Amino acid sequence: MMQRRDFLRTSTLGLGAAVLAKLPSFAAASGADAHIEILLGEALGAISPNIYGHFVEHLGGVVYDGIWVGENSKIPNIHGMRKDLVEHLRRIHAPVVRWPGGCFADSYDWKDGIGPREKRPRRTNFWAGEGKLPGKGNVPQAFEPNAFGTNEFIQFSRLTGAQPYLAANVRSLPAEDFYRWVEYCNSPAGSTSLAEMRAAAGFPEPFNVRYWGVGNEPWGCGGQFTPEEYATEFRRYTAWLPGYGMDPGLALIAAGPSDGQTDWTRAFLKKLIEGHSGVINSLYGLSIHHYSWDLARGRTHEWNAAKGDAVKFEAVDWFELLHEGDTLEGFIEDHWKAMGEFDAKRHVKLVVDEWGPWYKPGTEVDSTHLLGQMITLRDAVMSAATLDIFNRHPEKVAMANCAQLVNCLNSLFLAHEDKFVATPVFDVFEMYAPHQGGQGVRSVFNAPDVSYDRDGKSASFWGLKGSASLKEKVLTLTVVNPDVSRPRETEIVLRTAASGAAGIKAARVTTLTDADIHAHNTFENPRAVRPQTKDLSTGGAALRHTFPPASVSALQITLA
Ligand code: AHR
Repeated sequence: MMQRRDFLRTSTLGLGAAVLAKLPSFAAASGADAHIEILLGEALGAISPNIYGHFVEHLGGVVYDGIWVGENSKIPNIHGMRKDLVEHLRRIHAPVVRWPGGCFADSYDWKDGIGPREKRPRRTNFWAGEGKLPGKGNVPQAFEPNAFGTNEFIQFSRLTGAQPYLAANVRSLPAEDFYRWVEYCNSPAGSTSLAEMRAAAGFPEPFNVRYWGVGNEPWGCGGQFTPEEYATEFRRYTAWLPGYGMDPGLALIAAGPSDGQTDWTRAFLKKLIEGHSGVINSLYGLSIHHYSWDLARGRTHEWNAAKGDAVKFEAVDWFELLHEGDTLEGFIEDHWKAMGEFDAKRHVKLVVDEWGPWYKPGTEVDSTHLLGQMITLRDAVMSAATLDIFNRHPEKVAMANCAQLVNCLNSLFLAHEDKFVATPVFDVFEMYAPHQGGQGVRSVFNAPDVSYDRDGKSASFWGLKGSASLKEKVLTLTVVNPDVSRPRETEIVLRTAASGAAGIKAARVTTLTDADIHAHNTFENPRAVRPQTKDLSTGGAALRHTFPPASVSALQITLA
């Protein structure tokens, strides 16, 4: 007999209205044009809070201007860190922050960033040759002053409440430097010379950094390794690394490929365990990166030239970007399958430690902000759809880090000198925060697809999608309507394990949308796009709600 779950899945895969109409709860019977069914009895696993993580690289305006303003700055700061930013991160319960890169990580010597700040050396930043930096003089974006090093990053993590995730240099420093960095951070008070140096900086107690990335993009700026070469390096860097009695122990994350390159994943894991099958148990996660390119002009991945504009775009560009972003779900499933071939016990999780849309330069708030871009409603909708993907795969994805936190790519914040603004991507992180640590439950969405036409070629993808999680009696349901003009009148039904309808006591919805799909917050108009919250009337067992076009919605539903 076909199980209910399989039946629902088949239905949504397109068996059509005739089948759906036979189910009294479905859209065809209710008059609504979309239907969401939440299967409360179908637990997917606990949603790791770390899925809501962030990424900070010494790149353009992220660290200098974005986070670090200096202790003597007139800009309100806590120990030199921009106060507004710290406070906003607390609001969204930022769980984890990756640092110091990115490509920068594989050129960074952590020893440059410790000790008295005035004695730290100035070095050429990995990104010094990019964009408009040449000719700008000794700006910190080009010549790294090392004012923000390990101590400052740990202080930033503590201030924001996030856990640190450090990325080690595999391309240009030997393994010994990695051991020493771990020793500096984690060796007990008074135990080693490095622990004493840490104490001299005001930190006698160990930082107890748990998450360690071993390099970054090893196939590219991380050393141009083959997967096999990198597997050998990974073993060399991590074998017999002291854990300093931490419990849970170190979480070592191998740097993996971009997008759907499962060949890399397979070749890396095959080599990693060759003759050393136990090594798999020392691997906490395998990272993948996925950037979404608005490739309207040329459809190539060429650096900058072919990318679309962050603010000036047509509806077709909007659809194309969201459609591209959606491919991440397939990449997660494909990598997970590949990983299972080497890790039958499913010890290793996926870490999507760079994700977000990436446009061409020109909309950054300052010319030193390399890879800076204006953040519109489109990016908020795309970010919400991405976070929903992670929520739907809690057993696979242990961590994800939005690239990047401030002034770079998919930023939650823009900041320059004394000016600061939260972007609509920040609103999405705030709206989705209740999912952190919730029990993911299966949701079945049924809505007409959206379609668009690029150069005479039509394409389509889902018309309504989201994710659901439960914390005691409160269900969080997040929903994206990607259509630029059509609202979706939707019936929402909650089913218990026994397939009966679950009672609803109360419900409220927070919606982020705007009549203009290009809407964005600026220093001059910081609340141009803002979420609105209202109570919903409930019919006991079902809810009806119209999801506006181009919107992100977060429903909080209290069960009876
Ligand atoms: O986030 C910007 C860059 O993109 C990172 O430094 C690198 O890892 C990726 O290619």
